[in-house]
Amino acid sequence: MLKTYKTLNTYVTNALDAAFPEESANAKQHGQVIDPQLGRATKAEFGDFQINGVFALAKIFKQSPRAIAMAISKQLQVNDDFNNICLKPEIAGPGFINLTIKENYLKSEIAAQLNDNRLGVPIVQPQNPKETLKPIVVDFSSPNIAKEMHVGHLRSTIIGDSIARILEFRGYPVLRLNHVGDWGTQFGMLITYLKLVAPHALTTANAIDLGDLVAFYRKAKERFDNDKEFQSSSRNEVVKLQAGDQESLKAWKLLCDQSRKEFQKIYDRLAVKLTERGESFYNQYLKDVVDDLNSAGLLTTDNGAKCVFLEGIIGKGGQSHPVIIQKTDGGFNYSTTDLAAIRYRLSAAPIGDGAHRLIYVTDAGQANHFSGVFQVAKRAKWIPKGCRIEHVPFGLVQGDDGKKLKTRSGATVRLKDLLDEAIDRARHDLEQRLREEGRKEDGHFIEKVATTIGIAAVKYADLSQNRTTNYQFSFNRMLALQGNTAPYLLYALVRIAGINRKGVQYNPSVMELDFKEPQEWNLIRELLKFDEVILEVEEELLPNRLCNYLFELSQVFNRFYDQIPILNTTEPIRTSRLSLCRITSETLKVGLNLLGISTLERM
Ligand code: ARG
Repeated sequence: MLKTYKTLNTYVTNALDAAFPEESANAKQHGQVIDPQLGRATKAEFGDFQINGVFALAKIFKQSPRAIAMAISKQLQVNDDFNNICLKPEIAGPGFINLTIKENYLKSEIAAQLNDNRLGVPIVQPQNPKETLKPIVVDFSSPNIAKEMHVGHLRSTIIGDSIARILEFRGYPVLRLNHVGDWGTQFGMLITYLKLVAPHALTTANAIDLGDLVAFYRKAKERFDNDKEFQSSSRNEVVKLQAGDQESLKAWKLLCDQSRKEFQKIYDRLAVKLTERGESFYNQYLKDVVDDLNSAGLLTTDNGAKCVFLEGIIGKGGQSHPVIIQKTDGGFNYSTTDLAAIRYRLSAAPIGDGAHRLIYVTDAGQANHFSGVFQVAKRAKWIPKGCRIEHVPFGLVQGDDGKKLKTRSGATVRLKDLLDEAIDRARHDLEQRLREEGRKEDGHFIEKVATTIGIAAVKYADLSQNRTTNYQFSFNRMLALQGNTAPYLLYALVRIAGINRKGVQYNPSVMELDFKEPQEWNLIRELLKFDEVILEVEEELLPNRLCNYLFELSQVFNRFYDQIPILNTTEPIRTSRLSLCRITSETLKVGLNLLGISTLERM
């Protein structure tokens, strides 16, 4: 009910101005904010919306809250357009004003939603109709070549994909960028080591698999840490690679391809689309970063390294913290690449992406890195007016025991194994349920349902947590049919599909909808919140808000379904209820799709 909210907000603001013309004007002249603070009601018994600003106004106007509430309420009722939407305002407690939407109005809103495949969610329009919308960059997933993709990358992939989907649904052009770690000293070590122990891996495609590559990398790192000679040859390799040596480049490409293939398997299983633009892409722009920072007067040389000292961030020993831009040996850092990336992403095409919002989805451990890099970008004046740049941090993935997620033997969990296990367990639960219900289904059905539920459970468990907290990974919890889980939501959809399969034909457009029961009104009210939830997630980038909404909707729907008849009732009630079933199923489908979750007709 975004539109309704905006309309009401105008009415309430006008009523306030009309009730206190002098006081309002006076306060505004003194730069005070006069805001009635219209929001959603915090409890159903308070109606639909609530005016929360009365107490603040009482202080500014030096009058009692109750007098202010009465005056606003009186003014509102003078407005017939307001009266068409709301019942008489109710003053609650010492000065809250509760607004309840009229049933007739709700009915017309839900009828409109029934014929709207966007379910009330508006498409963004460019501010100037002659311009096109500027893209949003979502930088997510971003694993590292020659290293295993770990659960942190899985979280980034799932959260980033959902954010990208929501922004796409709103109509923004989204660049889904996979900023893979494909550059830097690790390649020097790896190539040097492989030259010694497995030279064919550097010249032949797919000569080794990623598991081996990861093991080689580990050994190379060990050797690097303990062997001076190995260190200097590794550094030479990096220099050769960065200078564009053909042989080194070829080896590098082979190694990247190898990892890329493994990453892609995971993305395919998760149905996540990404455009790879790794760190190496920005290599050509690193020099510009140094030049820009230099001419902006931000660079300081410290012990031979070029750095920018951060403002407001004090490190150990009371010294300001530096972002190192170029090391003493001339090499560049992770930060330098990120600076080049910001500069490129915010520069207008054809030089750059011309984006207006940059979103980085990584673990909270990188918060300092990003705050430093963002500060440098700001001081270098690379962030045009109106552009936003945000780090979207998330907490750690922990095991059932609250410690870092590990396998029973203590090794790091491989993503492939994790997804396999979710699916295996979903299959096991399904087979047990089929036995209990005496149902027979073929292998194809079982595979499809188990895969859908297994992947959905992993994604939903992650998304339904507030991302900023650590999250405890538990197969049992995420696969439960009860509670705020994927199977619960999928099951609500299956119930509705079941009603539709009973061969019902209905065409609500030829009939006036008719509702009387509280279960119907509760469901209608819940359905009409969808647009607000989507816009909130767009703003705050918290997909758990969408999860909570879908869970709440399923619960309200299940009460409706359990407590009042749908098919066995007379017209026009039957069609009216079936219409609510239809919008509920559309909303759940669209909502789950925005979380990257596929749905089922039967399970
Ligand atoms: N490769 C990094 C990691 O594995 C994540 C990169 C995130 N994106 C960025 N632009 N820094 O931790």
